This record gives sequence, structure tokens and C-alpha cells, in this order.
Amino acid sequence: MSAPPRELVAVLSAKGGCGATFLAINLAGELARHGAPSILVLDLDFCKGDVGGFLDAPGECDVHQLIQAGDHVDTAMLRGCARDYGEGGFQILVQPEDLTNLDVIGQAETVPLLEAAREGWDQVIVDCGSRIDPATLAAMLASDRVLVVLTPDIPALRDAKRILALFTRLGVDTDRVRFVLNKISRSARLDEDEVEEQLGHPLYARIRRDEETCATADLEGRLVRHVAPLSALSRDLRRTWGCLDEAPIPSPRISKRWSLPWSR
Ligand SMILES: Nc1ncnc2c1ncn2[C@@H]1O[C@H](COP(=O)(O)OP(=O)(O)O)[C@@H](O)[C@H]1O
Ligand SMILES: [Mg+2]
Repeated sequence: MSAPPRELVAVLSAKGGCGATFLAINLAGELARHGAPSILVLDLDFCKGDVGGFLDAPGECDVHQLIQAGDHVDTAMLRGCARDYGEGGFQILVQPEDLTNLDVIGQAETVPLLEAAREGWDQVIVDCGSRIDPATLAAMLASDRVLVVLTPDIPALRDAKRILALFTRLGVDTDRVRFVLNKISRSARLDEDEVEEQLGHPLYARIRRDEETCATADLEGRLVRHVAPLSALSRDLRRTWGCLDEAPIPSPRISKRWSLPWSR
């Protein structure tokens, strides 16, 4: 199988807890397995980013420190700050562990960071968390694809629809948006057809609920494919990777001229 094309992919959780971080890191692992030469998971969840926590790999340097450099941030600085997650075959740029640096990070600080990441790595997966703020919106607008992770329940579905409406208002090409339904189970409130019908959009990928495997992965700070390579969950994640293998839509240009709703 050929290496995946160069891409910047944003992963957004429709509602906190749907699985954006879970998907971002496990997809990075799949990309590495399929031969992507260099992969970065960039944690842009400035509220409670936990890529470092998920992989039991706290960084000595973090995105917040890089942001302090503003426009001067470049690929060399990102490389100096990124940390290897050796077992997964990718690198991570984490958020600080403590929650004391809660300044609002704007588009002006985020755009140079994204440009430097795009320049330095073949694949960049941005964990946007569940908050739509200037930083995560800048990342979503600059991405080749936006994966919106939702769960089969009414609050998540409602928020997925609100996100879609926002993208439409902002003129984001909704072809770039891929919905991923996570935590599917027999006891789920909604079935997959209902979710698709309500969204008015096809589901790109479906991932089952597997509490036990995820609890082990959380506990050990490892990827699903390492703790349970033969599990059905691992298979679902391999299938989800397939979307990144498709030819990319031409990249949007990263521009500093966007007018975000709250900066008008
Ligand atoms: N398919 C799944 N089955 C069971 N638990 C899952 C699944 N996907 C994610 N989880 C768990 O749900 C919790 C929240 O996931 P997380 O990625 O932190 O959500 P988010 O980043 O969207 O807030 C984590 O403990 C994670 O391991
Ligand atoms: Mg998260």
C-alpha cells in the first residue's frame, strides 16, 4: 500500500467525551503503520488538551510555550518541542499539564503554528477537542479534512448539527467534513440510520463501543492496536484510516485574513 498523501486533518468532538483525542492518536498510529514518513499529533485543545496524558508522555515543552513565540514560531522550534511517541511511530506536541495558562489563543497565534507544522511533517493531525474557539476554528478552516466525532445520542447529534450549520455559515466546504460515529452499541439511544438521516450527511466511519479495551489503553497510555490488536475496535480504527488514504481535496490556503464570527 502506498504512503498516505500529505495532509492536515482536524479532529473535533461534537461534544466533550465523544472521542476526538482517542481518534486523533489512534489514527496517527494507523498512519504510521501504513508508512507515512512523518506524523505529528498537535494538541490544540487549549482548554484541557490531554494527548500527553492519553499516551503517558507529558512533554517538557508544550504548545503554550511555543505560542509565546508568536509569529516567530517556525518548523525548527516545533521540532525542538515535539516529542517522540516511539511505540506509535509518530510525534506529539502537547498542551501543558497544569490548567493555569488559560489565555485566549487567537487565530494570529495559531496560523503560524499550523504553517510550521504543515511544513515540517507529512501528516499533521490536530486534536481540536470539543471547543470551537479562534484557535480550533483556524485549524478547521486550514485543514484538508475535518473529522467530526459524535456518539449515538441526542446531545451529540444536536451539537454535530450546530457545527455543520456553523461551517455552512462560514463557507467551509462541507465535502471536507467527515462524520465519524463512535461508541456504537446495541443500547445506544440512536441507530446509525437515524443519525445519518438527522444529520443529512453520510457517516464516514463507524467505531463500536469497547469499554474494556479503551480502559486498558487509557490505563497503559497506549494505542488500541497495541493493547488489543485483534479486537473488533482495532479493526474499526483500521477501516477509519481508509478516509485518509483517499486523494486529498486541494488544500485551503492558510490565510490570516479570515474574519471569525467573534472578531468582527
Ligand atoms: N469506542 C470507544 N469505546 C469505549 N470508550 C471509548 C471509545 N472511544 C473513546 N472512548 C473513551 O472515551 C473517553 C473520552 O474520549 P476522549 O478521546 O477523551 O474524548 P474527547 O477528546 O472527545 O473529549 C476516553 O476514556 C476514551 O478512552
Ligand atoms: Mg480530548
